[in-house]
Amino acid sequence: QKPVTQSAATAVKALPDAQTVTQVQHWTDRLFSFRVTRPQTLRFRSGEFVMIGLMGDNGKPLLRAYSIASPSWDDELEFYSIKVQDGPLTSKLQHIQEGDQIILRPKPVGTLVHDALLPGKRIWFFATGTGIAPFASLIRDPETYENYDEVILTHTCRDVAELEYGRRLVESVKNDEMLRELIGDGLDKLRYYPTTTREESPKMGRITELLKDGTVFRDLGIEGMSPETDRAMVCGSLAFNHDLKDILEGFGLREGANSDPKEYVVEKAFVG
Ligand code: A2P
Repeated sequence: QKPVTQSAATAVKALPDAQTVTQVQHWTDRLFSFRVTRPQTLRFRSGEFVMIGLMGDNGKPLLRAYSIASPSWDDELEFYSIKVQDGPLTSKLQHIQEGDQIILRPKPVGTLVHDALLPGKRIWFFATGTGIAPFASLIRDPETYENYDEVILTHTCRDVAELEYGRRLVESVKNDEMLRELIGDGLDKLRYYPTTTREESPKMGRITELLKDGTVFRDLGIEGMSPETDRAMVCGSLAFNHDLKDILEGFGLREGANSDPKEYVVEKAFVG
């Protein structure tokens, strides 16, 4: 048995599931995104997650579920992560740099996929914090625009700086020539509804409250949600998912799954 004296990055290199970091971007002291090489054989559906991580100090892989934020046609994989100073994985992962290696198990799974929803007219993507990651993939997927007449992405964060990743993403999607070619005028269907809860911004409040008091519908010029027309995907903290499920059920939507598609699906965003 060899003593584990290597750094996390060098230890990973020896593993079959190692991928190379190609880009790292820090958004705030709590948030960063990064891109890694994509295993040639990896196929996934937009909205799915994979297990990624680093070698732990005990010589065992330390892995967590991360939604793939990049679209399935992209050559690389993108992830969006929180930084938790005493988090077992993210306290280390936040220090990765271009050229470093991470572990990526190439087995994508998840419920936030088109297959888990029945056909509809309008799709809502409800996210808080890093819960926007699966939707970062889905709003770059042509299928989203083929399946729906209207696509609404809501993102609630504590402050304005935490919205920046999503804001830039939506802007880049709308201005991306290749996406325009792929998706065409369908991109105009995409509507973005960002809100903050702890800092002044054009739209303040938890999305749950803004749905309950009808503000969202007034702002977007929509009458409400119905199981005939509306579909939803939800990704945030446990409490957020729970509250939003209640709201969606109140509108008559039912929770679906891969094996049993219905009107909405939910997944917990990674938080630690
Ligand atoms: P709030 O500031 O009122 O807690 P976090 O950064 O803690 O993960 O939270 C991300 C965003 O999600 C925050 O704006 C937070 O609002 C909001 N949030 C947290 N819990 C809920 C919930 N149960 N319903 C709606 N929004 C929530």
